[in-house]
Amino acid sequence: FTVDWDASAAEKGGWPSFMDKEIHEDPEAVANTLLGRFDAKGDIVLDEVRIEPEVLRSIDRIVVVACGTASYAGLVARYAIEHWVRIPVEVELAHEFRYRDPILTPRTLVVAISQSGETMDTLMAIRHAREQGSRVLAICNTQGASIPRESDAVLYTHAGPEIAVASTKAFVAQIVAAYLLGLYFAQIKGTMFRDEIHHIVQQLRSMPEKIQWVLDTQADTVNRTATHMVNARSFLFLGRHVGYPVALEGALKLKEIAYTFTEGFAAGELKHGPIALVDAGEPVVVIVPSSRGRSTLHNKVVSGIEEVKARGAYTIVVAEEGDPDAERYADAVFWRPVCSTLLSPLVDVVPLQLFAMDMAMLKGYDVDKPRNLAKSVTVE
Ligand code: G6P
Repeated sequence: FTVDWDASAAEKGGWPSFMDKEIHEDPEAVANTLLGRFDAKGDIVLDEVRIEPEVLRSIDRIVVVACGTASYAGLVARYAIEHWVRIPVEVELAHEFRYRDPILTPRTLVVAISQSGETMDTLMAIRHAREQGSRVLAICNTQGASIPRESDAVLYTHAGPEIAVASTKAFVAQIVAAYLLGLYFAQIKGTMFRDEIHHIVQQLRSMPEKIQWVLDTQADTVNRTATHMVNARSFLFLGRHVGYPVALEGALKLKEIAYTFTEGFAAGELKHGPIALVDAGEPVVVIVPSSRGRSTLHNKVVSGIEEVKARGAYTIVVAEEGDPDAERYADAVFWRPVCSTLLSPLVDVVPLQLFAMDMAMLKGYDVDKPRNLAKSVTVE
Protein backbone atom coordinates (compact mmCIF):
# COMPACT_ATOMS: atom_id res chain seq x y z
CA PHE A 1 0.00 0.00 0.00
CA THR A 2 1.54 3.32 -1.06
CA VAL A 3 0.22 6.82 -0.77
CA ASP A 4 0.88 9.16 -3.67
CA TRP A 5 1.24 12.21 -1.48
CA ASP A 6 3.97 14.47 -0.34
CA ALA A 7 4.03 16.93 2.50
CA SER A 8 5.02 19.90 0.37
CA ALA A 9 2.12 19.34 -2.08
CA ALA A 10 -0.25 19.14 0.87
CA GLU A 11 1.02 22.42 2.29
CA LYS A 12 0.40 24.06 -1.07
CA GLY A 13 -3.28 23.20 -0.58
CA GLY A 14 -3.80 22.24 -4.22
CA TRP A 15 -1.95 25.22 -5.70
CA PRO A 16 0.83 24.44 -8.20
CA SER A 17 3.31 26.54 -6.23
CA PHE A 18 3.63 28.39 -2.94
CA MET A 19 3.89 31.62 -4.89
CA ASP A 20 0.55 30.99 -6.59
CA LYS A 21 -1.03 30.17 -3.21
CA GLU A 22 0.51 33.22 -1.56
CA ILE A 23 -0.57 35.67 -4.28
CA HIS A 24 -4.10 34.34 -3.82
CA GLU A 25 -3.71 35.03 -0.10
CA ASP A 26 -3.10 38.76 -0.74
CA PRO A 27 -6.71 39.67 0.23
CA GLU A 28 -6.50 37.66 3.44
CA ALA A 29 -3.09 39.13 4.31
CA VAL A 30 -4.54 42.64 4.04
CA ALA A 31 -7.66 41.74 6.02
CA ASN A 32 -5.68 40.00 8.78
CA THR A 33 -3.24 42.89 9.13
CA LEU A 34 -6.20 45.23 9.69
CA LEU A 35 -7.89 42.89 12.16
CA GLY A 36 -8.09 43.99 15.78
CA ARG A 37 -6.46 47.36 15.14
CA PHE A 38 -9.57 49.50 15.81
CA ASP A 39 -11.77 50.16 18.83
CA ALA A 40 -15.56 50.22 18.83
CA LYS A 41 -15.55 53.90 17.79
CA GLY A 42 -13.36 53.13 14.79
CA ASP A 43 -10.23 54.81 16.20
CA ILE A 44 -6.90 53.12 15.60
CA VAL A 45 -5.49 51.17 18.53
CA LEU A 46 -1.97 49.84 18.17
CA ASP A 47 -1.46 48.23 21.56
CA GLU A 48 1.78 46.58 20.49
CA VAL A 49 3.40 49.94 19.75
CA ARG A 50 4.61 50.48 23.27
CA ILE A 51 6.06 53.93 22.69
CA GLU A 52 4.34 56.54 24.86
CA PRO A 53 2.08 58.97 22.93
CA GLU A 54 4.18 61.94 24.18
CA VAL A 55 7.26 60.41 22.59
CA LEU A 56 5.40 59.72 19.34
CA ARG A 57 4.11 63.31 19.33
CA SER A 58 7.71 64.53 19.55
CA ILE A 59 8.85 62.55 16.48
CA ASP A 60 9.75 64.99 13.71
CA ARG A 61 11.17 62.65 11.09
CA ILE A 62 10.78 59.03 10.04
CA VAL A 63 13.52 57.00 8.37
CA VAL A 64 12.48 53.68 6.88
CA VAL A 65 15.24 51.09 6.51
CA ALA A 66 14.71 47.85 4.60
CA CYS A 67 15.98 45.71 1.73
CA GLY A 68 14.42 44.39 -1.47
CA THR A 69 10.64 44.24 -1.64
CA ALA A 70 10.28 45.56 1.91
CA SER A 71 12.06 48.77 0.86
CA TYR A 72 9.42 49.32 -1.85
CA ALA A 73 6.70 48.97 0.80
CA GLY A 74 8.59 51.77 2.58
CA LEU A 75 8.54 53.92 -0.55
CA VAL A 76 4.76 53.50 -0.82
CA ALA A 77 4.44 54.44 2.86
CA ARG A 78 6.37 57.66 2.30
CA TYR A 79 3.69 59.11 -0.01
CA ALA A 80 0.91 58.29 2.46
CA ILE A 81 2.64 59.23 5.73
CA GLU A 82 4.02 62.56 4.48
CA HIS A 83 0.57 63.47 3.17
CA TRP A 84 -1.27 62.46 6.34
CA VAL A 85 1.21 63.37 9.07
CA ARG A 86 3.19 66.21 7.47
CA ILE A 87 6.56 65.04 8.73
CA PRO A 88 9.43 64.08 6.42
CA VAL A 89 9.80 60.39 5.65
CA GLU A 90 13.02 59.08 4.12
CA VAL A 91 13.44 55.57 2.82
CA GLU A 92 16.83 54.01 2.61
CA LEU A 93 18.30 50.64 1.76
CA ALA A 94 19.52 49.32 5.10
CA HIS A 95 23.03 48.47 3.85
CA GLU A 96 23.58 52.01 2.51
CA PHE A 97 22.12 53.68 5.58
CA ARG A 98 24.39 51.88 8.02
CA TYR A 99 27.64 52.95 6.40
CA ARG A 100 27.11 56.61 5.64
CA ASP A 101 27.00 58.19 9.09
CA PRO A 102 23.28 59.06 8.94
CA ILE A 103 21.88 61.93 10.98
CA LEU A 104 19.79 60.48 13.79
CA THR A 105 18.32 62.15 16.86
CA PRO A 106 16.00 61.04 19.68
CA ARG A 107 13.19 62.68 17.65
CA THR A 108 13.85 60.43 14.65
CA LEU A 109 11.79 57.25 14.43
CA VAL A 110 13.52 54.53 12.46
CA VAL A 111 11.02 52.07 10.95
CA ALA A 112 12.56 48.74 9.94
CA ILE A 113 10.44 46.74 7.50
CA SER A 114 11.26 43.05 7.17
CA GLN A 115 9.19 39.98 6.36
CA SER A 116 11.60 37.53 7.99
CA GLY A 117 12.89 39.82 10.72
CA GLU A 118 16.31 38.25 10.15
CA THR A 119 17.83 40.27 7.30
CA MET A 120 21.32 41.07 8.57
CA ASP A 121 21.63 44.39 6.70
CA THR A 122 18.41 45.64 8.32
CA LEU A 123 19.42 44.31 11.74
CA MET A 124 22.77 46.14 11.58
CA ALA A 125 20.98 49.33 10.54
CA ILE A 126 18.66 49.28 13.55
CA ARG A 127 21.51 48.51 15.94
CA HIS A 128 23.29 51.57 14.62
CA ALA A 129 20.13 53.70 14.93
CA ARG A 130 19.60 52.71 18.55
CA GLU A 131 23.24 53.43 19.40
CA GLN A 132 22.62 56.96 18.11
CA GLY A 133 19.65 57.37 20.46
CA SER A 134 16.80 56.95 17.94
CA ARG A 135 13.81 54.77 18.61
CA VAL A 136 13.18 51.83 16.31
CA LEU A 137 9.83 50.39 15.31
CA ALA A 138 9.78 47.11 13.36
CA ILE A 139 7.13 46.12 10.83
CA CYS A 140 7.65 42.39 10.70
CA ASN A 141 5.85 39.19 9.67
CA THR A 142 7.70 36.75 11.93
CA GLN A 143 6.90 36.68 15.63
CA GLY A 144 9.92 36.90 17.90
CA ALA A 145 12.51 37.28 15.11
CA SER A 146 15.77 39.19 15.73
CA ILE A 147 14.64 42.55 14.29
CA PRO A 148 11.47 42.88 16.40
CA ARG A 149 13.39 41.58 19.45
CA GLU A 150 15.95 44.36 19.08
CA SER A 151 13.39 47.11 18.38
CA ASP A 152 11.63 49.44 20.81
CA ALA A 153 8.25 48.58 19.31
CA VAL A 154 6.81 46.21 16.75
CA LEU A 155 3.82 46.21 14.47
CA TYR A 156 3.31 42.70 13.18
CA THR A 157 1.94 42.02 9.75
CA HIS A 158 -0.37 39.02 9.83
CA ALA A 159 0.26 37.68 6.34
CA GLY A 160 0.92 34.15 7.63
CA PRO A 161 4.06 32.18 6.73
CA GLU A 162 5.52 33.10 3.35
CA ILE A 163 7.41 30.19 1.78
CA ALA A 164 8.12 31.28 -1.81
CA VAL A 165 11.39 33.22 -2.00
CA ALA A 166 9.82 36.10 -3.93
CA SER A 167 7.72 38.13 -1.52
CA THR A 168 4.06 38.74 -2.44
CA LYS A 169 1.46 38.65 0.33
CA ALA A 170 3.98 39.98 2.86
CA PHE A 171 4.45 43.06 0.64
CA VAL A 172 0.77 44.05 0.68
CA ALA A 173 0.63 43.38 4.43
CA GLN A 174 3.71 45.61 4.99
CA ILE A 175 2.03 48.44 3.08
CA VAL A 176 -1.12 48.07 5.20
CA ALA A 177 0.88 48.10 8.45
CA ALA A 178 2.69 51.24 7.32
CA TYR A 179 -0.64 52.92 6.46
CA LEU A 180 -1.93 52.02 9.94
CA LEU A 181 1.18 53.53 11.49
CA GLY A 182 0.71 56.71 9.45
CA LEU A 183 -2.96 57.04 10.40
CA TYR A 184 -2.08 56.35 14.05
CA PHE A 185 0.46 59.18 13.94
CA ALA A 186 -2.13 61.46 12.32
CA GLN A 187 -4.55 60.56 15.14
CA ILE A 188 -1.98 61.22 17.88
CA LYS A 189 -0.54 64.40 16.35
CA GLY A 190 -3.97 65.68 15.29
CA THR A 191 -2.90 66.32 11.70
CA MET A 192 -6.17 64.95 10.32
CA PHE A 193 -9.82 65.18 11.36
CA ARG A 194 -11.20 62.04 12.95
CA ASP A 195 -13.74 61.74 10.14
CA GLU A 196 -11.00 61.83 7.53
CA ILE A 197 -9.14 59.02 9.29
CA HIS A 198 -12.35 56.99 9.59
CA HIS A 199 -13.02 57.51 5.90
CA ILE A 200 -9.58 56.15 4.93
CA VAL A 201 -10.00 53.23 7.32
CA GLN A 202 -13.30 52.47 5.58
CA GLN A 203 -11.51 52.46 2.22
CA LEU A 204 -8.73 50.26 3.62
CA ARG A 205 -11.33 47.76 4.78
CA SER A 206 -12.66 47.47 1.24
CA MET A 207 -9.24 46.65 -0.22
CA PRO A 208 -9.35 42.83 0.26
CA GLU A 209 -12.50 42.76 -1.90
CA LYS A 210 -10.85 44.92 -4.58
CA ILE A 211 -7.75 42.70 -4.64
CA GLN A 212 -10.01 39.67 -4.95
CA TRP A 213 -11.70 41.31 -7.93
CA VAL A 214 -8.31 41.66 -9.64
CA LEU A 215 -7.48 38.00 -8.95
CA ASP A 216 -10.89 36.85 -10.21
CA THR A 217 -11.17 38.98 -13.33
CA GLN A 218 -7.66 39.85 -14.54
CA ALA A 219 -5.75 36.56 -14.26
CA ASP A 220 -6.70 35.40 -17.79
CA THR A 221 -5.55 38.62 -19.46
CA VAL A 222 -2.34 38.51 -17.44
CA ASN A 223 -1.71 34.92 -18.50
CA ARG A 224 -2.43 35.67 -22.19
CA THR A 225 -0.07 38.64 -22.06
CA ALA A 226 2.67 36.55 -20.43
CA THR A 227 2.25 33.87 -23.11
CA HIS A 228 2.58 36.54 -25.79
CA MET A 229 5.67 38.11 -24.18
CA VAL A 230 7.47 34.98 -23.01
CA ASN A 231 10.43 35.48 -25.34
CA ALA A 232 10.98 39.16 -24.55
CA ARG A 233 14.55 39.77 -23.42
CA SER A 234 13.92 42.85 -21.31
CA PHE A 235 11.13 44.93 -19.81
CA LEU A 236 10.85 48.53 -18.65
CA PHE A 237 8.45 49.41 -15.84
CA LEU A 238 7.26 52.99 -15.39
CA GLY A 239 5.19 54.57 -12.67
CA ARG A 240 4.68 57.95 -11.08
CA HIS A 241 3.76 58.97 -7.50
CA VAL A 242 2.69 55.76 -5.68
CA GLY A 243 2.88 53.96 -9.02
CA TYR A 244 6.65 54.42 -8.98
CA PRO A 245 7.38 51.92 -6.16
CA VAL A 246 4.84 49.58 -7.77
CA ALA A 247 6.88 49.77 -11.00
CA LEU A 248 10.06 48.99 -9.03
CA GLU A 249 8.41 46.00 -7.36
CA GLY A 250 6.94 44.71 -10.66
CA ALA A 251 10.40 44.92 -12.21
CA LEU A 252 12.01 43.16 -9.23
CA LYS A 253 9.49 40.28 -9.28
CA LEU A 254 10.10 39.57 -12.97
CA LYS A 255 13.87 39.80 -12.53
CA GLU A 256 13.86 37.50 -9.48
CA ILE A 257 11.85 34.60 -10.80
CA ALA A 258 11.76 34.84 -14.62
CA TYR A 259 15.44 35.90 -14.90
CA THR A 260 14.48 38.66 -17.29
CA PHE A 261 16.41 41.90 -17.45
CA THR A 262 14.09 44.58 -16.07
CA GLU A 263 14.37 48.16 -14.93
CA GLY A 264 11.82 50.17 -13.00
CA PHE A 265 11.79 53.93 -13.54
CA ALA A 266 9.92 56.99 -12.35
CA ALA A 267 7.79 57.83 -15.41
CA GLY A 268 9.01 61.44 -15.36
CA GLU A 269 12.58 60.19 -15.92
CA LEU A 270 11.65 58.65 -19.25
CA LYS A 271 12.79 61.68 -21.21
CA HIS A 272 15.99 61.93 -19.15
CA GLY A 273 17.42 58.61 -20.30
CA PRO A 274 15.31 55.43 -20.41
CA ILE A 275 13.54 56.44 -23.63
CA ALA A 276 16.83 55.73 -25.42
CA LEU A 277 16.24 52.03 -24.68
CA VAL A 278 12.84 51.99 -26.35
CA ASP A 279 12.90 50.27 -29.69
CA ALA A 280 10.30 48.48 -31.81
CA GLY A 281 8.69 45.69 -29.80
CA GLU A 282 10.29 46.65 -26.45
CA PRO A 283 7.79 45.78 -23.71
CA VAL A 284 6.99 48.70 -21.42
CA VAL A 285 4.75 48.22 -18.40
CA VAL A 286 3.10 51.43 -17.15
CA ILE A 287 1.15 52.02 -13.95
CA VAL A 288 -1.43 54.69 -14.82
CA PRO A 289 -2.91 56.82 -12.02
CA SER A 290 -6.62 57.40 -11.84
CA SER A 291 -8.01 60.06 -14.16
CA ARG A 292 -10.29 61.26 -11.36
CA GLY A 293 -8.97 64.02 -9.11
CA ARG A 294 -5.25 63.98 -9.89
CA SER A 295 -5.81 64.23 -13.62
CA THR A 296 -2.54 66.13 -14.19
CA LEU A 297 -0.57 63.09 -13.10
CA HIS A 298 -2.78 60.88 -15.23
CA ASN A 299 -2.24 63.03 -18.31
CA LYS A 300 1.52 63.10 -17.80
CA VAL A 301 1.75 59.34 -17.50
CA VAL A 302 -0.50 58.87 -20.53
CA SER A 303 1.74 61.16 -22.58
CA GLY A 304 4.66 58.92 -21.54
CA ILE A 305 2.75 55.95 -22.98
CA GLU A 306 2.23 57.90 -26.22
CA GLU A 307 5.98 58.61 -26.37
CA VAL A 308 7.01 54.98 -26.06
CA LYS A 309 4.17 53.85 -28.33
CA ALA A 310 5.39 56.24 -31.03
CA ARG A 311 8.74 54.40 -30.90
CA GLY A 312 7.12 51.02 -31.39
CA ALA A 313 6.99 49.79 -27.78
CA TYR A 314 4.60 47.01 -26.76
CA THR A 315 2.67 48.64 -23.94
CA ILE A 316 1.18 46.81 -21.00
CA VAL A 317 -0.82 49.12 -18.79
CA VAL A 318 -2.28 48.87 -15.29
CA ALA A 319 -5.20 51.33 -15.27
CA GLU A 320 -8.46 52.16 -13.58
CA GLU A 321 -11.54 50.40 -14.90
CA GLY A 322 -12.98 52.28 -17.84
CA ASP A 323 -10.01 54.63 -18.41
CA PRO A 324 -10.45 55.52 -22.12
CA ASP A 325 -6.81 56.56 -22.57
CA ALA A 326 -5.62 53.15 -21.44
CA GLU A 327 -7.79 51.50 -24.09
CA ARG A 328 -6.46 53.87 -26.71
CA TYR A 329 -2.72 53.44 -26.16
CA ALA A 330 -2.22 50.04 -24.55
CA ASP A 331 -1.56 46.74 -26.27
CA ALA A 332 -2.69 44.98 -23.10
CA VAL A 333 -4.55 46.38 -20.07
CA PHE A 334 -4.71 45.00 -16.53
CA TRP A 335 -7.66 46.74 -14.88
CA ARG A 336 -7.86 47.99 -11.31
CA PRO A 337 -11.19 48.72 -9.63
CA VAL A 338 -11.81 52.33 -8.63
CA CYS A 339 -9.96 53.10 -5.40
CA SER A 340 -8.22 55.94 -3.63
CA THR A 341 -4.86 56.87 -5.19
CA LEU A 342 -2.82 56.45 -2.02
CA LEU A 343 -4.18 52.94 -1.49
CA SER A 344 -3.93 51.86 -5.15
CA PRO A 345 -0.53 50.07 -4.81
CA LEU A 346 -2.36 47.31 -2.92
CA VAL A 347 -4.26 46.39 -6.07
CA ASP A 348 -1.81 47.52 -8.75
CA VAL A 349 0.94 45.17 -7.64
CA VAL A 350 -1.30 42.09 -7.87
CA PRO A 351 -1.36 41.65 -11.69
CA LEU A 352 2.40 42.25 -11.72
CA GLN A 353 2.92 39.45 -9.18
CA LEU A 354 0.79 37.16 -11.36
CA PHE A 355 2.62 38.28 -14.50
CA ALA A 356 6.06 37.43 -13.06
CA MET A 357 4.79 34.05 -11.88
CA ASP A 358 3.20 33.21 -15.24
CA MET A 359 6.36 34.22 -17.12
CA ALA A 360 8.52 32.02 -14.87
CA MET A 361 6.12 29.07 -15.19
CA LEU A 362 6.00 29.41 -18.97
CA LYS A 363 9.79 29.35 -19.06
CA GLY A 364 9.77 26.22 -16.91
CA TYR A 365 11.50 27.74 -13.88
CA ASP A 366 10.96 26.87 -10.23
CA VAL A 367 8.91 29.89 -9.14
CA ASP A 368 9.28 29.15 -5.45
CA LYS A 369 13.04 28.71 -5.39
CA PRO A 370 14.71 31.00 -7.90
CA ARG A 371 18.38 30.40 -8.57
CA ASN A 372 20.96 32.28 -6.47
CA LEU A 373 18.38 33.82 -4.10
CA ALA A 374 17.56 33.12 -0.47
CA LYS A 375 14.32 33.88 1.34
CA SER A 376 16.20 35.55 4.12
CA VAL A 377 19.72 36.94 3.75
CA THR A 378 21.39 36.55 7.11
CA VAL A 379 24.85 37.75 6.07
CA GLU A 380 25.93 41.35 5.48
C1 G6P B 1 15.72 38.69 0.26
C2 G6P B 1 14.47 38.11 -0.38
C3 G6P B 1 13.53 39.24 -0.83
C4 G6P B 1 13.22 40.15 0.34
C5 G6P B 1 14.49 40.69 1.00
C6 G6P B 1 14.20 41.36 2.32
O1 G6P B 1 16.49 39.34 -0.71
O2 G6P B 1 14.81 37.29 -1.49
O3 G6P B 1 12.32 38.69 -1.33
O4 G6P B 1 12.43 41.22 -0.10
O5 G6P B 1 15.39 39.62 1.29
O6 G6P B 1 13.73 40.39 3.21
P1 G6P B 1 12.99 40.71 4.56
O7 G6P B 1 12.77 39.37 5.21
O8 G6P B 1 13.89 41.60 5.36
O9 G6P B 1 11.71 41.39 4.21
